[in-house]
Amino acid sequence: MTSASPSAAQVLATEQLEAGYGSAQVLFGIDLQVRRGEVVALMGRNGMGKTTLIRTIIGLATRMGGRILVEGKDVTRWASYRVARAGVGLVPEGRQVFAALTTEENLVATARESSAPDAWTLESVYRLFPRLAERRRHYGNQLSGGEQQMLAIGRALLTQPALLMLDEATEGLAPLIRQEIWRTLRTLKDRGLSVLVVDRDLKALGALADRYVILEKGRVARSGPARELLSERALIERYLGV
Ligand SMILES: Nc1ncnc2c1ncn2[C@@H]1O[C@H](COP(=O)(O)OP(=O)(O)OP(=O)(O)O)[C@@H](O)[C@H]1O
Ligand SMILES: [Mg+2]
Repeated sequence: MTSASPSAAQVLATEQLEAGYGSAQVLFGIDLQVRRGEVVALMGRNGMGKTTLIRTIIGLATRMGGRILVEGKDVTRWASYRVARAGVGLVPEGRQVFAALTTEENLVATARESSAPDAWTLESVYRLFPRLAERRRHYGNQLSGGEQQMLAIGRALLTQPALLMLDEATEGLAPLIRQEIWRTLRTLKDRGLSVLVVDRDLKALGALADRYVILEKGRVARSGPARELLSERALIERYLGV
């Protein structure tokens, strides 16, 4: 092992990140860090830039300025497949499961082999989500919303990420399935995975996350320890407009 550089404790760092669509700028100088093993909740009302930030990190939206570091490595100008390979796994908004592929085909489509002892395998993903094992021969379009979400998470894990980013992973799911997703995220955290999670559930985020960051019109409006999501709920809810 090489000696730890100051940035090695940070799985993700954005520095003064600016991004947008065409000539419309959406993000204005975002500084965001996720340390190793940390869960960071990314929050904010509709249209404040959460998805744009996540997509910019993975190289899918137009960056207009600033830098993106993954495990201390400058990936700012990298194509998205290289950023993914550098260790960023994405569970995108809307899941984007391949309808015409089976569960198992979906899982292996973007999987990456690794010889690391703690690497994710089909078997360990099926252990995490026994339901996916039961549905391994079903097609994507035969799965329930919850199963598709589990599939999207399993697929991201099989890319062997150092950082998992989830965009509205519990959106539109029944309460019991939501709980199952939150339990799974807790398991992943306990395994030491670093996570950036976009969600609206203050209670669940307050229980799981270490820190929160609230975006307002493309800027960081507020951030702090996640327990504030519970203790200063009224204040936080004002930022979130709920
Ligand atoms: N493909 C696009 N082309 C042009 N503008 C876009 C595009 N996607 C998003 N925007 C705009 O960028 C801004 C930020 O949108 P973004 O989707 O990042 O917000 P969000 O915080 O994820 O919102 P939500 O909570 O609704 O998912 C909004 O003003 C939105 O209209
Ligand atoms: Mg969004």
